[in-house]
Amino acid sequence: MERLDKILASQGTLSRKEVKEIIRKGRITLNGNVVKDSSVKIDENKDVVTLDGEVLSLKKHIYIMLNKPQGIISASDSDTDETVVDLVPEELFRKGLFPAGRLDKDTTGFVLITDDGDFAHRILSPKNHIFKTYIAELQHKLSDDDIKSLENGIVLGDGTELKESKVEVIEDTDKPLVRIQICEGKYHQVKRMFAATGNKVLTLHREKMGELYLDNNLKPGECREITSDELVKIISK
Ligand code: URA
Repeated sequence: MERLDKILASQGTLSRKEVKEIIRKGRITLNGNVVKDSSVKIDENKDVVTLDGEVLSLKKHIYIMLNKPQGIISASDSDTDETVVDLVPEELFRKGLFPAGRLDKDTTGFVLITDDGDFAHRILSPKNHIFKTYIAELQHKLSDDDIKSLENGIVLGDGTELKESKVEVIEDTDKPLVRIQICEGKYHQVKRMFAATGNKVLTLHREKMGELYLDNNLKPGECREITSDELVKIISK
């Protein structure tokens, strides 16, 4: 149990003073009733709090799934470009949001945005072997030897040694479509892996983190909150 004003201010969008003012004006309800006492204690897991009729999320941390479009950078803020955090709608926004892992500006698909540094570290650390799954369209066909060397842990042009990956050809055409799963997140990793086999990635899309697929109801640029059951799918192997 925690004070209402403290919880609301900890969400990061309102100062303690603004929270008090909003409560005083009767804009907050607690379990359906207007509440004017900012010191009332609430249970973040059970109580329902609204601001101007919108239900507020009172959880300690938030985890958001974004279907990233092309042309957006994976950062919290930028003076020049639109960022993935700029795409988070007001009702999910909090202070301290950042993308847990970066996609290139031209890569599309699943970006997890959170304010939970420990969780981000857990899913990104290569030693935890949480696979990120991408669909790549390639310039040229892949040979069986290419697949073997990618899967066994290829060495990049600059000598970087990579861990194992999983590669599956989905459409064996002139410009094949390939599913690749990696558990590291080195700079331009997938593009550099295929470049090391003399190939080129034409388009890249992240479809899955751990065992959680990008929700195909999300149009490019749309976000939604990840449920606790879904979070477990990311970290379970
Ligand atoms: N690998 C890449 O090359 N780019 C991405 O955006 C993600 C993985």
